[in-house]
Amino acid sequence: MTPRPAGRGPEAREGATSGTEVPMDVHEAIATRRALRSLAPAEISDELIRDLAAHAGLAPSCANNQPWRFVFVAAPDRLEAMKSVFSAGNRWCHEASLMIAVVSRKEDDCVIRDRDYHLFDTGLAVAFLMLRATELGLIAHPVAGYSPDRTRDVLGIPAGFDIITIILVGRRAPEPNPTLSPEKLEAESRRPERLAFEEYAFLDRYGR
Ligand SMILES: Cc1cc2nc3c(=O)[nH]c(=O)nc-3n(C[C@H](O)[C@H](O)[C@H](O)COP(=O)(O)O)c2cc1C
Repeated sequence: MTPRPAGRGPEAREGATSGTEVPMDVHEAIATRRALRSLAPAEISDELIRDLAAHAGLAPSCANNQPWRFVFVAAPDRLEAMKSVFSAGNRWCHEASLMIAVVSRKEDDCVIRDRDYHLFDTGLAVAFLMLRATELGLIAHPVAGYSPDRTRDVLGIPAGFDIITIILVGRRAPEPNPTLSPEKLEAESRRPERLAFEEYAFLDRYGR
């Protein structure tokens, strides 16, 4: 794992919102992150796992409820067991050095009339984790293509917790994964297109 530069731990920035601009490289992490699928082995240390968890844990949450829970899977036999949970199109996931199951449940976060916040808050934490992984030179790719039932069995996740995503972590492989479909192969070299501003951002009132 790339050592964290001194003074740049998650705790080092506390109270940094002084109202003046401080040099940061948030843009670079956001622009660099990619959901790549051709993974090569990465060294997974306890320090790395704690680092990723610590950055995720700094995410905001409704009433500071912190509903996110992560199961970090790095032991070879557990990674092997996890291979059975992925859908056929996600065969590339088998190459991950670290798999992170992300779970949360409704009762651990705000429910304001018909608004449940646990998925939203957990998504924020996942974004922070992925950006930190990107900063460390790692791929951190979230997927939805897995069996929640099998994942629950393999990892012993209690009933009542939603299994929201599994994040696959590794280094970028120099060669494309041979199991990728032509579209996914294309996405290895070119970021899939995004909506135009007008399609998702509105001024003063919803719509055009
Ligand atoms: C919730 C979620 C589920 C996803 N599920 C899968 C998946 O099952 N398999 C896969 O190959 N990619 C999956 N992806 C990756 C997306 O396809 C990818 O993020 C998108 O195409 C944009 O590419 P980019 O992240 O490299 O910009 C998922 C991403 C998210 C956020």
